[in-house]
Amino acid sequence: MEGKLSSVAKNFTPSPIQELSQLAQRCNAINLAEGFPDFPAPPCIKEAAVSAINNDFNQYRHVQGICDQLALKMKKTHGLDVNPLTDIAICCGQSEAFAAAIFSIINQGDEVLLFDPCYETYEGCITLAGGIPVYVALEPPQWTLDPEKLMRSFTSRTKAIVLNSPHNPTGKVFSRDELEIIAEGCRRWDCVAITDEVYEYITYDNQKHETIAKLPGMQERTIITSSLSKTFSVTGWRIGWAIAPASAASAIQNIHIRITDSAPAPFQEAALTALRSPIEYFETLRGEYELKRDFCMKLLGSVGFRIQFKPQGSLFLFAELPKDCLLSDVEYVEELIQQAGVVVVPGRGFFHGNESCKYQKRYIRVAFCKSGATLNAAAQKFGELINAKACPKILYQRK
Ligand SMILES: Cc1ncc(COP(=O)(O)O)c(C=O)c1O
Repeated sequence: MEGKLSSVAKNFTPSPIQELSQLAQRCNAINLAEGFPDFPAPPCIKEAAVSAINNDFNQYRHVQGICDQLALKMKKTHGLDVNPLTDIAICCGQSEAFAAAIFSIINQGDEVLLFDPCYETYEGCITLAGGIPVYVALEPPQWTLDPEKLMRSFTSRTKAIVLNSPHNPTGKVFSRDELEIIAEGCRRWDCVAITDEVYEYITYDNQKHETIAKLPGMQERTIITSSLSKTFSVTGWRIGWAIAPASAASAIQNIHIRITDSAPAPFQEAALTALRSPIEYFETLRGEYELKRDFCMKLLGSVGFRIQFKPQGSLFLFAELPKDCLLSDVEYVEELIQQAGVVVVPGRGFFHGNESCKYQKRYIRVAFCKSGATLNAAAQKFGELINAKACPKILYQRK
């Protein structure tokens, strides 16, 4: 069959991260790698899903109530008028919403701007659609957006820009000024903003998430994608959505119907309960994740990291290896698995452009969306290493 594989399939090969993940499994390592919670979802939404199955919501389904709830939320949170009947497509997670959004607007040869580093799945969707990813490097250590660099990247071939805020892997929340600059580029070059707002409720230190769609002239050129996955700790339920002007939302809906037909029916029903959660739910979520973030910053500090950028949102700490560390990101993660029994993600998979080649092997990503028990177990492993002083390759004195 190998000879029959398409060129697309041949290009999508396993990454070094997947290989490390196998090593981590063999070593039974504590998992601070993957961006999903290892603790239970809220009981009331689980009960809603069970009840939906028992009440036989088990067939193809479109739950209009989700669109109604989302439209209310867009008005209340961002002041945006969204028509629940025409402007929202329910999809299988943000992932499908994003893929369908790309397929709905990208033609062969269209350029799509992305920030570097970024979440890994965008590029695959863009190239599948025949688009050309063009990377705009954010500048470490604060992952600053250089307005001139961004403006130079737009061309008459630029069809869209992808904006993920709060950002995976860095934890950056794009500021209002940065959103204004991106919006200015979109308006000037008549370009679409496709946002990924899956961490919209997970921001720290009083930071607030804002959607670029609310800036002047932007709602008509923005496709917002998001999901239940991270906000409600249900990454496996596959409920997400795209919110866009009616023509784009309907194109996304048509693509979604051809690929998956509908998102899982019982989980759509449970989404109604989730989306009606009281404000206290979101406040508690933020507060708990902020404590986890601080815990992990201390943990990395204890083995010699100096965290220059404190995550403002999302579930990740993107940390530069200590200056004295001669290992690459992949080598560091291998040592960490073997010596400490803890696995994190090497940073290189998030970098794409040439500009980042100087530092793209110098970062690791730590996911702190883990239970207290998991984080304490990781701290204990680090503590044992420090006490044994047996592992010079991954222990660095703070200077
Ligand atoms: C930035 C970002 N977008 C999207 C996703 C996936 O979202 P979903 O589960 O809704 O497909 C992830 C998962 O890690 C992510 O980090």
